[in-house]
Amino acid sequence: MHNRLIVVSNRVPLPSADGVSLGGLVSALLPSLEAMGSTMWFGWSGQTASAPASVLWSTPHRVSARGVEYVTVDLTEREVHGYYEEYGNRVLWPLLHGLVQHMAPEAAASYEVYRAVNQRFARALRPLLRPDDLVWVHDYHLIPLGAELRQLGWHGRTGYFQHTPIPSVEAWSQLPQGVVLADLFSAYDLIGVQTDRDRVNLGDILISEDTAARVAAYPISIDAEHFREFTKASAGSAVPVEWPDAEMVYFGVERLDYTKGIPQRLEAFERALISAPEMQEGARFVQWAAPSRTGVPEYQAEREAIEAAAERLNARFDDPPLEIDFEAYPAEAVAPALEQADVCVVSSVADGMNLVAKEFAAVHSADHPGVLVMSDMCGAAEELTDALIYPADDVDAMSAAMREAYFMPLAERRRRAASLREVVDRHTSRDWLHEFVSDLREVLPRTRVAATYVGPHHGTPDRRGVTPAPRTARAR
Ligand code: F6P
Repeated sequence: MHNRLIVVSNRVPLPSADGVSLGGLVSALLPSLEAMGSTMWFGWSGQTASAPASVLWSTPHRVSARGVEYVTVDLTEREVHGYYEEYGNRVLWPLLHGLVQHMAPEAAASYEVYRAVNQRFARALRPLLRPDDLVWVHDYHLIPLGAELRQLGWHGRTGYFQHTPIPSVEAWSQLPQGVVLADLFSAYDLIGVQTDRDRVNLGDILISEDTAARVAAYPISIDAEHFREFTKASAGSAVPVEWPDAEMVYFGVERLDYTKGIPQRLEAFERALISAPEMQEGARFVQWAAPSRTGVPEYQAEREAIEAAAERLNARFDDPPLEIDFEAYPAEAVAPALEQADVCVVSSVADGMNLVAKEFAAVHSADHPGVLVMSDMCGAAEELTDALIYPADDVDAMSAAMREAYFMPLAERRRRAASLREVVDRHTSRDWLHEFVSDLREVLPRTRVAATYVGPHHGTPDRRGVTPAPRTARAR
């Protein structure tokens, strides 16, 4: 039986968009979906419009390209602010990364808007669904969507995938709507997370044992072969900025986000240069940070923190060791830069997967070995064990790993690079998608509607004692 796959996410990679910096979710899904054919991708158009919300939601835009039908709706400015900027980016995002110090308590009041947008998403999507469709909801913007669809009489198989990490139950308890949101997961037949650590954490958070048993780790990946194509066409000439002429170039590239630990990374590099004076001659750092969520105060503060750290680092040495660039570049530029880099530093304080680590691994090999320095809070650290992995909260340990990369003998670099590449070649984004979708097709459907909590649309303080859930779901 061939079921139509309906992907639902906040962001939709409309074929007309320029394709720059849409995040890991899109880069992992799009090539595989195009190859599958007969799929629909539903979500926000990325546009705001001034018509009343009821009109915007009843007139979705529809466009098809390369086997995927894109169905999108515009949001009002008020909706974007409440659902995306406030509740999504200032409450759920820091919470899910366990960075509760970045949560903005006042933004929790936007929960109402978050729920209302999810309800409208469900109302716009429900009439487009056929009974045999498989619905696959992506990420924290849309946790309530499954329950809203069930309320509208949707009984088909519905899965959910969490792209960010899942925090400890202690961090989760800081969320005023923690109990309500945890219960909303029970609308889903299958819940995918990135790592085994996330699976254990979500099992602790979920209220229903049956729901906890439906959680499994499906580490997202890349299409390594496809990514390497971006390096072949240009042979390095597409790197858009001047690349330092140094013995070893360290490279960081990501969205500008406080989860990525960019100021800490610059500080660690400074400490490495001070402790190993040879590096002052031979090592340079290139950092690309793509501006992201620029309307959100915490992101403005992070940009200032990065700029201050960059200035400090460059002022410290006669020959400034850092080139920093606040631009968003497409894969055609990122891939050759990753290939040219000798060391890639992925220093997330917490992160879902960090596909950039897998992209770096894909464009290096025993013949062209690069060294990956990565924190233990990157999702990819569970698989890419031949990276130099350090504890995320330890700047000295990161600095030591940077030094180790500089002095690593060639044979050791070759061995590690070959091993990393093997990991990303063995399990691709296509495998990830097929594993989730085939499990969703086969999983025992859950008892619906009655077990699904959908209201009230405002939260109650989390005062529960959580019963630890059985961990029967498979770890991948
Ligand atoms: O990877 C997590 C994620 O939230 C994706 O869902 C999203 O596409 C990406 O980060 C970029 O974030 P935003 O859509 O807020 O720019």
